Amino acid sequence: MELTDKKVLLGLSGGIAAYKGPELLRLFQKEGAQIRVMLTSGAQAFVSPLVLEALSKEKVLVQDDFLRPLGGLIPHTHWGAWAEAIVVAPASASFIAGLAQGDASSILAATIMASRAKVILCPAMNELMWSHPATQENIKRLRSFGYTILAPETGALACGDIGPGRLPSLRKIVEFTKRLLGPHDLKDHRVLVTAGPTREPIDRVRFISNRSSGRMGCALAQVAWWRGAEVYLIHGPLSVPPPVGPTCLHVETAQEMLEAVREYLSKVDIIIMAAAVADFVAAKPLDKKLKKRPHFCLELVQAPDILQQIKLWAKDQVVVGFAAEEGPQLISEAQRKLKEKGLDLIVANDISRSDIGFDAEENEVLIISRQGTTKSVPKGPKNKIAWAIWDEILQWQRDYVSK
Ligand code: CTP
Repeated sequence: MELTDKKVLLGLSGGIAAYKGPELLRLFQKEGAQIRVMLTSGAQAFVSPLVLEALSKEKVLVQDDFLRPLGGLIPHTHWGAWAEAIVVAPASASFIAGLAQGDASSILAATIMASRAKVILCPAMNELMWSHPATQENIKRLRSFGYTILAPETGALACGDIGPGRLPSLRKIVEFTKRLLGPHDLKDHRVLVTAGPTREPIDRVRFISNRSSGRMGCALAQVAWWRGAEVYLIHGPLSVPPPVGPTCLHVETAQEMLEAVREYLSKVDIIIMAAAVADFVAAKPLDKKLKKRPHFCLELVQAPDILQQIKLWAKDQVVVGFAAEEGPQLISEAQRKLKEKGLDLIVANDISRSDIGFDAEENEVLIISRQGTTKSVPKGPKNKIAWAIWDEILQWQRDYVSK
């Protein structure tokens, strides 16, 4: 897990969204993080330190602990040195103002100032307070310090207003923390990933599709984003939640995917076609619902092959394809597609097994390069496979491109 043993200090300041603190703490713990919690005096009015102490199994520091040595150690410098990331959720308007001015009178602001940790601030407040020029100036200043600001989301606020001011989703906060603490080895890359099946209409209500869940493509996009890349994900209908962070574009048909890929290709230096694009589409889809009848013959024609087109459009992009194969033909068929589609690398997976590949939680793949090298990645969760695929792409670039 990406946050395993990462040291995260969760800071809560005074705002109604502080009630989400215990849930956020649990989410970080589920991701393997070591977590400590610190509350400003404002936060204490909304959430009890006792709850957080019971959940974190660590002492929770509050304003009264400021400058009260912890077994001889100064709390804010000690915890500041411990943390790899400090996440303030919610960050209230007054907390933001104090930190922007370098006012270290709150224990949490003092800890941030006495730390080398990466900082994520998640403002949550009334929409007018958020859009007030004073808050916006303070936010600009905090950004200039290198802090990550997760802008509040729009929705119903505790005061009854509707507008920007809500704490971002807890999943989003956790995903941004993963990116901040990630290895950043893809930070100079812009990547395009395709995922999921396509849907090809037969009539107004029916379509041809396949069992792809989109899990492998989403994992590739999510992992690339954690590792610092700018990521575009073009996906068909997904059976899993889309990744947080990448720019996601939903398409339905192979033709729509082709057009979207064409538009985004020039923006990126690596493309991975993980989508299970249709091979056949209805020759003449009907624009009304077909009435039932004893027999019906559907004429199918070949769908556009997106990778074949990319071969014509690509300039210097690294092009990676997938090969969905059954049984003993796995390697020879993958090699054939690698060659015919003009790929740099191909990821072959066996779709005849129900425990891996299509619509499964796990995968097991063989990565073949156009130079003939092969790398086998043992069975594991698709996120783990995605890490290995990105490792292999970076290694391939070091071996064959940068020389
Ligand atoms: N692909 C594509 N456009 C299609 C079909 C497939 O770009 N219309 C891409 C897939 O995204 C994958 C690669 O081509 O990266 C290989 O897909 P696969 O389904 O394994 O093979 P096909 O090209 O469909 O060939 P075959 O039917 O012979 O298996």
